[in-house]
Amino acid sequence: MGLIKVEGELIHDAAVFVAHGGYQIIFNTRDKGLAWVQVGDNIYSDDDNGNINSEKTVHKIFVEKDELDSAKEYTIRFARCIDRKPYFAESGETFEKTYSFKPMNKEDNINIYMICDSHSRTVEPAESGKYFGDDLDALILNGDIPNHSGSIEHLLSIYYITSKITEGRVPVIYARGNHDTRGRMAIGFADYVATDNGNLFYTFRIGSIWGVVLDCGEDKNDDHPEYGGMANFDTYRAAQTRFLKNIIKNKENEYAASDVKYKIAICHVRMDLYKDEYFTRHYKEWLKALNEIGINVMLNGHEHRRNYLPAGRDTEIGKIGYHTVLGGSFERRDLPDGNKIRNMHGTALTFNNNKIDVVFTDGTYQKLEEHIIDIDK
Ligand SMILES: [Fe+2]
Repeated sequence: MGLIKVEGELIHDAAVFVAHGGYQIIFNTRDKGLAWVQVGDNIYSDDDNGNINSEKTVHKIFVEKDELDSAKEYTIRFARCIDRKPYFAESGETFEKTYSFKPMNKEDNINIYMICDSHSRTVEPAESGKYFGDDLDALILNGDIPNHSGSIEHLLSIYYITSKITEGRVPVIYARGNHDTRGRMAIGFADYVATDNGNLFYTFRIGSIWGVVLDCGEDKNDDHPEYGGMANFDTYRAAQTRFLKNIIKNKENEYAASDVKYKIAICHVRMDLYKDEYFTRHYKEWLKALNEIGINVMLNGHEHRRNYLPAGRDTEIGKIGYHTVLGGSFERRDLPDGNKIRNMHGTALTFNNNKIDVVFTDGTYQKLEEHIIDIDK
């Protein structure tokens, strides 16, 4: 892989995304080129059926979970692609950077921060997400982190935030938001965050937490003029009904595993917002499955507000068996004295002693509101 020399620098630091089956290390570079990750003695590449990708600036590399958890560090490597000629292809010298990694195997006292709906803002969400400092165990980005997927700059806002908050050291979970589905680069959105066999819906484990990420897609009917005939989320929602039913069939390896203490769901849009049968026929099925799984808390965004809704609510799609947390919003206020307030509100979650402590916080780390969910009740 050539000599070690800085070339083709990173734009933002690497992030370790988590999805079913393990970690996916994603990093971005100014130039297109070849990417590798080394964990212990093993080297993984961003490749496609044996060919190392050379034409991308965002690189996604799959890594074994147990291996990275025990190595506690990883090294990313990158070489610029000069020309992928059919014969004697040329690449530049290799750049590398090593990150320490905090293994995610805690049973209790797990600290997770959630941000949603930052809409391409970067500085304020990155600041708010440092609430737990070195005690952070994972970061959840619950959709609409880019304002849309019309250009790479919007997508890079994801990595600005992950790099400042996690420094490549703790896992990131991404749930796609409806604005993420819009614009030319939305087609390849799955290349930019974690996936399970290409799907943006998947289950994951973080220590004793079992989780499921769902993707509502757009928030209006597929034939709405805003989408220009380019949406088919109705079929996509039906696929997730089958996915949820399969989780239940396979529960011993999923949420019913003996080391699972907490069960969470993450979905950008709150399913019970919808009244129209076009949506509710799917979301009734999703709710039935989530109630059977026994989800403790559902984490939502989309509504640009913070709120806690207790379990047991009667809604259009049925009785909601889990507690609901709406993750926060960007605060933008111009005061009469000329001062401007620009501040991201997010959610700090601590899983400890069969309780989930939900705290809404702001960019100065003030507690705005606190709710304690007792999962034994
Ligand atoms: Fe949204």
